[in-house]
Amino acid sequence: MRKHYRTIKFAFASALTGLVLAGFTSCGKRDENSPGVEFMPDMYRSPSLEYYQTHMVDGQLEMNAKQPVKGTVARGYLPYNYENTAEGYSKAGESLKNPLTANSREEYEKEGEIIYGKFCVHCHGATGLGDGKVGQKLPGAPPAYNGTLKNLPEGKIFHSITYGKGLMGQHASQLTQEERWKLVYFVQKLQGPKETAAADSTKTTAAATPTAASKQH
Ligand code: HEC
Repeated sequence: MRKHYRTIKFAFASALTGLVLAGFTSCGKRDENSPGVEFMPDMYRSPSLEYYQTHMVDGQLEMNAKQPVKGTVARGYLPYNYENTAEGYSKAGESLKNPLTANSREEYEKEGEIIYGKFCVHCHGATGLGDGKVGQKLPGAPPAYNGTLKNLPEGKIFHSITYGKGLMGQHASQLTQEERWKLVYFVQKLQGPKETAAADSTKTTAAATPTAASKQH
């Protein structure tokens, strides 16, 4: 009788173990990569957004890469408020002044010369005559700083470096405003001392001749 009970108990225990094991193995799909039952799915699957993709916001498809809100000013960045138009150019000439005054002019000129050697010399030439190797190949060589451009005001120099002019490309994306102002000091050094209008007009024609001649080549 006792033996009989033992057999029943054993049968029960094995059936229970079998059930539990079956329970463990049977949950989830047959898919090998399936993680089975997910206890807190949000923790596994965060709604992270990929760069340069679109996603839905309130039923509208939005681009993830956003333009900054209008009027936003990045830290350490000064907006340049003169537009790239003829009007902006002449306004810059009238009212835009070099804000770099903390150090001596010579120091800024030296720093400007280094930048000039990297970004400008191949077109404008070491002394600003417009005789750089690349400048000479242009359909119209750059005018001389101490000739045609002798009396160009600092605001216009800055404006033209910023937006470019004619065959000269814009430099706003390569040079910070501070670097551009240092260049202005150096360009002014190459312009030489400002002259009166009468003396300037004779100089201008004299210096403009080689420029006009090189245009023919
Ligand atoms: C690809 C050749 C090239 C490079 C590089 C270049 N320039 Fe020029 N630059 C020119 C030409 C050409 C002009 C004449 C533009 C015109 O008036 O049509 C010019 C004009 C200018 C003027 C006179 C703008 C005006 O308002 O009349 C200034 C100042 C000047 N460049 C400064 C610079 C400085 C500073 C750099 C370096 C950051 C530089 N340029 C780089 C070709 C170049």
